[in-house]
Amino acid sequence: MADTLTVTDNRTGKTYEVPITDGAIRALDLRQVRTGPDDFGLLAYDPAFMNTASTRSAITFIDGDRGVLWYRGYPIEQLAERSTYLEVAYLLIHGELPTEKALADWTWQVTHHTWVHENVKKFMDGFHHDAHPMSMLISAVAALSTFYPDARVNRDAGHRALQVHRLIAKMPTLTAFAYRHTLGRPCVYPDNDLSYAGNFLNMVFRTADAKYAPPPALERALDVLFILHADHEQNCSTNAMRSVASSGVDPYSAVAAAAAALYGPLHGGANEAVLKMLRSIGSPARIPDFIRQVKTGEARLMGFGHRVYKNYDPRARIIKGVADAVFAATQPSPLLPVALELERIALQDDYFVTRKLYPNVDFYSGLIYDAMGFPVEMFPALFAIPRTAGWLAQWLEMLGDPEQKIARPRQVYTGPDRRDFVPMERRA
Ligand code: ACO
Repeated sequence: MADTLTVTDNRTGKTYEVPITDGAIRALDLRQVRTGPDDFGLLAYDPAFMNTASTRSAITFIDGDRGVLWYRGYPIEQLAERSTYLEVAYLLIHGELPTEKALADWTWQVTHHTWVHENVKKFMDGFHHDAHPMSMLISAVAALSTFYPDARVNRDAGHRALQVHRLIAKMPTLTAFAYRHTLGRPCVYPDNDLSYAGNFLNMVFRTADAKYAPPPALERALDVLFILHADHEQNCSTNAMRSVASSGVDPYSAVAAAAAALYGPLHGGANEAVLKMLRSIGSPARIPDFIRQVKTGEARLMGFGHRVYKNYDPRARIIKGVADAVFAATQPSPLLPVALELERIALQDDYFVTRKLYPNVDFYSGLIYDAMGFPVEMFPALFAIPRTAGWLAQWLEMLGDPEQKIARPRQVYTGPDRRDFVPMERRA
């Protein structure tokens, strides 16, 4: 049995044999399918990349039908239970779990790049008091490229590693500074004695105390949420990261583009949308009416459905456990009964069952962030912080991939045929 695909072009009667490697054909192999010398060749038309692999990647594996997620081969459940975010970030970037010494070096590097130039505070001050923290974060991370212009020219491994340390270290600082600006409170500087998640809680929540002690349950919960959000193969924002960075731009600009993609309500903005949806439903009694609206297309059940998972999102299962731990340490969210009942009804309803719509990672994460004291506007930024490790792992992989070039899709032109310019007085 040959690993090939035989294609017959019924326009010409010609037959072509195309190799199949790892379950894929190369779209460029279709170019030979032509009706004549003037024909450009057959294109694969795939709006929204529904069936197109844009890269070979060794970072993250998802089996959407079985609800499986691995980082570098390690199941997400094991990492969430036994690892820390910084260890997982190392794994994503370097491909292997760190030794004790490697983890200590990595943690030291990330911890000692958390400070940002004082001028960052000045331009943060220029934003309106009610500016969305994610908009501020996107702008601030883009602005980091002005502080590190060397990142545009230096491409060796040492410089890349430096940008990786800086970006993973500074995303929490920028996010916390943006948040404090919306409150009109002074920025809190990083505390190098604290863990990655603990320091972030410190920069966000510390008030008059000289030293902030993060509540252990919240610190661990946030770290697990960071692990769950660290990478997710070729999603919308990762595709933006790779596509923008393929032009050779510096990683700060590319991370800003990726963060901008993440901001949308169909992607990283979904947990914000979930909380707003739960608040608008208000009580379990109003769920049937809401479900009716979803079925008639007037509303969308946010936090449900996924382009890849056609089964329970494995991250959603882990998140339910995290939610229990956080609610035990805080006030149980009054919206929890609405969420639980909504999930119960949706999982039985034919509309959702036949479309294989299951809760995704965002269905419960918003409730947890809410219980921790984060306002909804912070949710997309809480996603961008951990996803930075994934974006950077994908960036490094792309730079080392000899098959990659500047990303530049083709199109099927549907506009008018060639026509001559019409002077103003003759236009209808
Ligand atoms: N509520 C109601 N109906 C839905 C939902 C939903 N949440 N999601 C999909 N559907 C329906 C669609 O209307 C469509 O129905 P149809 O066949 O009758 O037209 C069918 O299910 C297939 O949906 P598509 O939109 O084609 O699926 P796609 O893969 O393009 O979309 C997406 C995936 C964007 C995640 C979608 O499920 C959605 O909008 N969900 C809500 C937003 C959300 O939770 N996003 C977070 C995703 S996870 C993340 O980014 C971290």
